[in-house]
Amino acid sequence: MSTVRTSADPTRRRAATTVRRDKAAGEFLADVLEGLSKPQKTLPCKYFYDARGSELFDEICEQPEYYPTRTETAILDEHLDAIGETMPPGAVLVEYGSGSSTKTRLLLDRLEDLAAYVPVDICDSHLLRSAWQLKAAYPRLTVRPVCADFTKPFRVPRLDGRPRVLFFPGSTIGNFGPADAIALLTGMAEIARPGGGLLIGVDLLKSPHVLEPAYDDAAGVTAAFNLNLLERINREFDGSFDLDAFEHRAIFNADDSRVEMHLVSQTEQVAEVDGTQFRFATGETIHTENSYKYSREAFAGLANRAGWRVETVWTDPLDYFGVHYLVAE
Ligand code: AVJ
Repeated sequence: MSTVRTSADPTRRRAATTVRRDKAAGEFLADVLEGLSKPQKTLPCKYFYDARGSELFDEICEQPEYYPTRTETAILDEHLDAIGETMPPGAVLVEYGSGSSTKTRLLLDRLEDLAAYVPVDICDSHLLRSAWQLKAAYPRLTVRPVCADFTKPFRVPRLDGRPRVLFFPGSTIGNFGPADAIALLTGMAEIARPGGGLLIGVDLLKSPHVLEPAYDDAAGVTAAFNLNLLERINREFDGSFDLDAFEHRAIFNADDSRVEMHLVSQTEQVAEVDGTQFRFATGETIHTENSYKYSREAFAGLANRAGWRVETVWTDPLDYFGVHYLVAE
């Protein structure tokens, strides 16, 4: 919730970190039990990213079928001069999530008149380590990491009231349903303040023949990523999921314009989590992720409802991905 400051008392800091971790584990368990108790069983996709899950995600980004990462990076690389000219001079760059160090460095290398860089992420060693590394690599840049869950209200350092440009790459917005996406974008417009910007990567609507393999690569990396969630639950909550009895499935749901990932029970079975039993019929699924895909018009509509207007959209030759620059009204 607050700007990171070095504390003079290391003991106190450690205690606070432990409490935060226990609270996080408690929320994870509560979310798992609640999700598995619904008629359509679900698990929130934000829990994919333990150490192994983050590794697997990086591997997904290198699969030939998974086009978003490399396409977005190529768009940024090609159009950064134009992007820089679109942004207000002397801006503070506020990044939502700080996982994408390649894209961040691309921006910091090429947007020369940035006043400061503010990565916002949940508080862990990763956020602080990458902030220190950037500080060392860009000695003239002010780096001010903020520890926060960006889906909840948080404060950005004032930094002389300079204009703000928010950076939200990776089409992470696709993980939010329409209502949550509007709420998040509305909060972002408040943080950007009128005239401020949002540079956001959006995966565009396209054929299911391209979409489905992107979430079901031939090497099985996305399958392993999906199944790792059950492995994580087994490890953290004494779970009894039989990983061989579930199969990964990715389907494009055209009605809702989203790719859905599921884990499909291959047999009738019972799995236990923290002492609670959950029954599965053969073919029953756990819905683990939504990845919404937008036409340009649909995304512009969403942005407008959240207090933004679309200034420019940069895309790749196949129109697979759109890097949008929005201005807060
Ligand atoms: C990180 C949410 C953008 O939806 O494409 C990739 C996550 N899941 N393969 C996406 C993901 C399976 C990814 N986002």
